[in-house]
Amino acid sequence: MKAVLPVAGLGTRFLPVTKAVPKEMLPILDRPCIEYVVAEAVASGIDELVFVTARGKGAIEEYFDQAPALEATLEAAGKRELLCEVRRVAQLATVVSIRQASMKGLGHAVLTAAPAVGNHDFVVILPDDIVDAEVPVVRQLLDVHADTGGVVVALKEVPRADTRRYGICAGPMVRPDRMRIDHMVEKPRPEDAPSNLSIVGRYVLPGAIFEELRRTEPGAGGEIQLTDALARMPLAHGHVFSGAHFDTGNPVGLLGAALHFGTRHPVMGPAVRALAAKFAAN
Ligand code: UTP
Repeated sequence: MKAVLPVAGLGTRFLPVTKAVPKEMLPILDRPCIEYVVAEAVASGIDELVFVTARGKGAIEEYFDQAPALEATLEAAGKRELLCEVRRVAQLATVVSIRQASMKGLGHAVLTAAPAVGNHDFVVILPDDIVDAEVPVVRQLLDVHADTGGVVVALKEVPRADTRRYGICAGPMVRPDRMRIDHMVEKPRPEDAPSNLSIVGRYVLPGAIFEELRRTEPGAGGEIQLTDALARMPLAHGHVFSGAHFDTGNPVGLLGAALHFGTRHPVMGPAVRALAAKFAAN
């Protein structure tokens, strides 16, 4: 199965840094955000990735490519460990890139990947959502999908006051962590929201979604919304995943992820914990 990673967005919440650096390349400690989600895909059994990119996002492709000059320099200097790290990243997965010519929204970005995916089930991973979980969230969704078929999305409870920032789902819970979705709405006002369970950026989708996306008119924010196409699919389930979730699409969320992974890091952990304690004391 292939995973589509839409990375064409402008990342305005990170301006001005995103004038020159893709937000997906901003680091959590010593590796970019995008590597965390690629690692999740690989750990879930996926090794073919489709990046939906745009102008200015070339650093993402370079990161997952081989770097012969750098590798030769590290080899000549006897820096074996660094050389292994650099090579490891390039060997993580097979990457294909497709350009989204104009920013028409997440639904349009997913549709852009159609030629690389074909009429098969596939996974969509939004790199802004990083989850630290014992079983990777994509794997959790694929396991549900093996049971249910159809569309499967990751769900998380959010404060009701915040529903206008998310895609919201409603329907009967057929298990404690599984919803049979009969209602999806993008960015509803709190008073209109049918629940407080929001879609987090992980989806298992059938190839038929592309036909639905072609028919989808611009919705919330004037963008072609993936949620609007999903809402018309005949069968959809939501999985309330387990794991610690970070929205790294904004600076404070990224800092939270850095603290989470930093305080648990096998080498940097003690120094990060000491730093965090120092700031907590102030
Ligand atoms: P966001 O709504 O977070 O937009 O997109 P953004 O541009 O990335 O960030 P802000 O809001 O301006 O700070 C959600 C996901 O959809 C992708 C983004 O790259 C991100 O992964 N996307 C969005 C596209 O690939 N193309 C689009 O036209 C819109």
